[in-house]
Amino acid sequence: MKNESVMMVGPTAVPQRVLDAMNRKSISHRSVEYCEIQARVSAGLKKVFGTQNEVYILTSSGTGAMEAAIQNCFSFGDEVVIPILGTFSAQFAAMAEAFKLKVVRVDYALGEAADVETVMHHVTPATKGVFVIHNESATGVFNDLQAFGEVLKETDTLFITDSVSGAGGLEMKMDDWHIDILLSSSQKALMVPAGLAFISLSEKAWKASETSDIPTYYFDLKKSRDFYSKDQTPNTPAVYNVFAVDEALKMIFEEGVEQVYQRHEKNTLAIIDGVKQLGYDIFPKDEKRASRTLTAVYAPGKAKRIVEELAKRNIIVNGGLAPNEEDVFRVGTMGFIFKEDVDAFLNALSEVRNLFTDCP
Ligand SMILES: Cc1ncc(COP(=O)(O)O)c(C=O)c1O
Repeated sequence: MKNESVMMVGPTAVPQRVLDAMNRKSISHRSVEYCEIQARVSAGLKKVFGTQNEVYILTSSGTGAMEAAIQNCFSFGDEVVIPILGTFSAQFAAMAEAFKLKVVRVDYALGEAADVETVMHHVTPATKGVFVIHNESATGVFNDLQAFGEVLKETDTLFITDSVSGAGGLEMKMDDWHIDILLSSSQKALMVPAGLAFISLSEKAWKASETSDIPTYYFDLKKSRDFYSKDQTPNTPAVYNVFAVDEALKMIFEEGVEQVYQRHEKNTLAIIDGVKQLGYDIFPKDEKRASRTLTAVYAPGKAKRIVEELAKRNIIVNGGLAPNEEDVFRVGTMGFIFKEDVDAFLNALSEVRNLFTDCP
């Protein structure tokens, strides 16, 4: 029985087994032992990403992998289309502009998912990339990547996906869904402390990298590719986080990837159902597109107080992101979250709800 349920949307709870895996002596990142671990980790990440392509480990948070995608595969002035669903898709657009890309924003109301028809309306033969977030952690909405991949696969446009809050918790089929650049990070469904990002490129993306004119150095993926042939990274990686990912992947494969996805789905649906029974709405406008790794709950004017009151009851969740700090709170079901956490959350919420005279 846990005495606290850490149900944040990232960084997420780190299992004791993963913490124990980091409690060991240091090794050189050029040693045979390290190379064996890295080889195992990249093989495991390929399964989680659903790809035959290499998955590169970067020592950074997820944002570093977003930068790597832009720096390596685009050129100054390239036109890209980005559906904006909330904070993190907006961050990708701002970053692309910082690298002097020409961004066509497709704006959605907060809580909506992106739809292929509207986005494709903005895609022309000049479009070099379409950036579709997998799971918008700000609003708790996930997108149908397969549908985007189907329409983009026949074009010269790259399909880029940020799955920072998806991979490891949501089904991911990079190759089958024709994703050209897929990125994620360690501190979400992969149950590892922050510090590593992961990125994988299709053949089409590597081809684009040959003509990219944006300078790279730390995030030069061609260098990563060279070093990967020796199961190493160009610079010193966060070796202890690599130990942690190794252990976390073992846990995921012991449970079974499909079972892990099912657990995420079941727990999230139980939360959606439970909060609705308590009288709250969820923030996503279409329940079918409500994320299966986190739930954004709509509690107008009360969200901050609810987060504080839940914390007093040892349930740690996150508040909303701007402009929804007062109205939305977010409950993570990513990674090491089980039915007992869901039950503890719902019990605590039903108590907290009664603190308000005009509940919910
Ligand atoms: C969907 C999404 N993309 C990108 C990021 C940024 O990742 P990081 O904070 O690891 O740099 C986050 C962080 O929460 C996220 O949820």
